[in-house]
Amino acid sequence: MRAEDIPMYRLYGELAWLWPVMSAPAEYAEEAAHWRSLLREPLGPGRHPILELGVGGGHNLSHFASEFVPVAVDLSEPMLAHSRRLNPAVEHHLGDMRSIRLGRRFRAVLIHDAVSHMLDENDLLAALRTAAAHLEPGGLLLAAPDRFEDGFVSPEVDRGQGCADGLSLTYFEYTHLIREGVPRVETILTYVIDQGGTVQVELDRMHTGLFPLATWRRLFGQAGFSFVARRLPLSSIAGDYVILQGILQR
Ligand SMILES: C[S@@+](CC[C@H](N)C(=O)[O-])C[C@H]1O[C@@H](n2cnc3c(N)ncnc32)[C@H](O)[C@@H]1O
Repeated sequence: MRAEDIPMYRLYGELAWLWPVMSAPAEYAEEAAHWRSLLREPLGPGRHPILELGVGGGHNLSHFASEFVPVAVDLSEPMLAHSRRLNPAVEHHLGDMRSIRLGRRFRAVLIHDAVSHMLDENDLLAALRTAAAHLEPGGLLLAAPDRFEDGFVSPEVDRGQGCADGLSLTYFEYTHLIREGVPRVETILTYVIDQGGTVQVELDRMHTGLFPLATWRRLFGQAGFSFVARRLPLSSIAGDYVILQGILQR
């Protein structure tokens, strides 16, 4: 089977039921502590209104949702359903981070790993402009792309495991550079799902964007933001975890 024959983005559709097993909310505790402190630095104490674009299952958000007044957006109804269950007090909307306009402004906009789904500069700039359109002057943008073109070595290979409700999931990820056109990466996923000894195997594939840090800086500027790359320790990854931080300059 050629990679091109594997259907794409099944994890956000028919296989979305695997998400809480693949990447359990508890695994985000350390990472979420960084997001909480980067929010608190400029915002200070209080239950400020915040917006998350591409909330997915809301796993990262769940660790600090009760301390703010969050609104959440995602393109996938099954992923939103997970986040609604986990974060029942959060207002959720189906929408595309490149184009949604809620007609409201927030103190901060978060785009966690979902920002990696912006495949080219037009998409990325559109998402950053959505963030700007939803921020008060001086508002905060935080974004955490999965990888940067600088230092990326193709292929990356990863695997993981999770268990819940009699289901055991083992997954393998092969992430490689696609050289045609705008640089981007393709991740090929194999899920081995064991339900009480009955084993099911599923294949999936995703494309995500790959930009050098200099492009992030330039596009943050074009969308009206200052730019700082915050490098933070995270025990689950080798090297630094990077959160991009922008303040709306108007
Ligand atoms: C890896 S998941 C995010 C997981 C999330 N950080 C969590 O803590 O559960 C990526 C999400 O990005 C969403 N997504 C991809 N493209 C999008 C777009 N253009 N607008 C909004 N959401 C998008 C997908 O539907 C998916 O739910």
